[in-house]
Amino acid sequence: MISLQNITKKFKGDTVLDNICLKIQQGESIAIIGPSGSGKTTLIRTINGFVIPDNGSISIDGKEIKYSDKKNLRQMRKRIGMIYQLFNLVERTSVLENVLAGSLGRYDNGVGLVLSTIGLFSKEEKEKAMELLRFVDIEHKASERVDRLSGGEKQRVAIARALMQNPDILLADEPIANLDPKTSQKIIDLLLKINEEKGITLLCVLHHIDTVKDNFNRVIALKKGKIIFDGKISLLNKTELLSLYEIEESEEFEWMAA
Ligand SMILES: Nc1ncnc2c1ncn2[C@@H]1O[C@H](COP(=O)(O)OP(=O)(O)OP(=O)(O)O)[C@@H](O)[C@H]1O
Ligand SMILES: [Mg+2]
Repeated sequence: MISLQNITKKFKGDTVLDNICLKIQQGESIAIIGPSGSGKTTLIRTINGFVIPDNGSISIDGKEIKYSDKKNLRQMRKRIGMIYQLFNLVERTSVLENVLAGSLGRYDNGVGLVLSTIGLFSKEEKEKAMELLRFVDIEHKASERVDRLSGGEKQRVAIARALMQNPDILLADEPIANLDPKTSQKIIDLLLKINEEKGITLLCVLHHIDTVKDNFNRVIALKKGKIIFDGKISLLNKTELLSLYEIEESEEFEWMAA
């Protein structure tokens, strides 16, 4: 279980997370929604330890994250796989090498990890990477350079990489924002399959409300750093959804089309 107690974070005096309390059971799949700047990415980054809250605490399976303890942070991060909007892969390296990098649990620091040789990894690790590439249905591109792949293919590679570290939790920050609708649904299906078959907790920041409605039962809505809704999306009516995004009914058509 992930438990957030009274998490508050300010950037330059602005409160970005405002007394967030949240409990997430192992194996849940949750969508996080909310307008731009509402704190979604910051929330996710407190859970993986990249943002240190000013107040409050986060524990995973009863163990509190100790932000000042590097070893504790490393151990905790190893349990959390990250998926990003822009994939964060090393573009000029092969698919297989990118997935193997996941076993180091270091790929999510935003710095391209340069792997000089595939020989760094054991036979077992390579077999596992190939098995994961099979699982995400992109085994045939294992030796292809990442910069030759489509966006949907890149996201599959990024998902395989995240799985390489055997995570208990997957945090996906707008994983489909750069993909067309059909590819988006395939990636969401893949993330939900991972959640169901492997029991990995899934937290997914999404902007497309229809995708959320069709695929997620529990939805957390953030507005100005506060959780203003947590529950089944069917309980949120259209007016509440529009007000979450501060959209007038007359603007609705434009917004839906965006
Ligand atoms: N490292 C940082 N330093 C200063 N301000 C930050 C930092 N990270 C985020 N912020 C600010 O915190 C607020 C919330 O940002 P955050 O990225 O969490 O929003 P978001 O809900 O993910 O938005 P979007 O939908 O646009 O991705 C914004 O005003 C942003 O400028
Ligand atoms: Mg964000």
